Amino acid sequence: MPNAKRDPFASIDRLRPLITEEEIRNRTRELGAKISADYKGSDLLLVSVLKGGFVFLADLVRTIDIPLELDFMRVRSYGARSESSGVVEITADLTGPVEGKHVLFVEDIVDTGLTMTYLMRNIKTRHPADVRLCALLYKPERKLVDVPIDYLGFTIPNQFVVGYGLDYAEKHRNLPYIATMDDEPPG
Ligand code: IMP
Repeated sequence: MPNAKRDPFASIDRLRPLITEEEIRNRTRELGAKISADYKGSDLLLVSVLKGGFVFLADLVRTIDIPLELDFMRVRSYGARSESSGVVEITADLTGPVEGKHVLFVEDIVDTGLTMTYLMRNIKTRHPADVRLCALLYKPERKLVDVPIDYLGFTIPNQFVVGYGLDYAEKHRNLPYIATMDDEPPG
């Protein structure tokens, strides 16, 4: 067994709850109801950005009561872990065309906005009917570019958060709530 004390980020004691499971559940239900109403009768394609978006996506889809398709993208963002550089590489692309479809990105967090700006611009070149964004979290203090968030879960302060799909060094994705870390991770 590895000694948890040697890994300062392995200890759950360093995490402070910011958004509870119940708050996430209630807000997700509201977003799902709004999305169901807005896209009724449309050819809806939800696109999740891996890995961080997978928990939110799994809960969100179960609150949407209209037919939809799902697809995934995976991106690598250059720069230090906690600092997006805006240079984004698509490491896994959609499995099918989006032409004529109503694309709704489902993202865990919009921080500087650079990743989503890049991805939305990229998808728009593929002639979808439209492209919108649903994000669980938004940190306005970190904004470098404006990204219109059509469906937003929570606005949060400028703190590094983990849990509910979000990681630090690949850890803590499995926490069922959103927590802040005691220390900012090194940039
Ligand atoms: P952006 O391009 O700066 O908006 O960064 C978006 C990506 O950075 C997210 O999809 C996350 O993977 C990561 N990220 C930004 N802030 C946090 C955070 O507080 N915790 C965990 N990951 C974060």
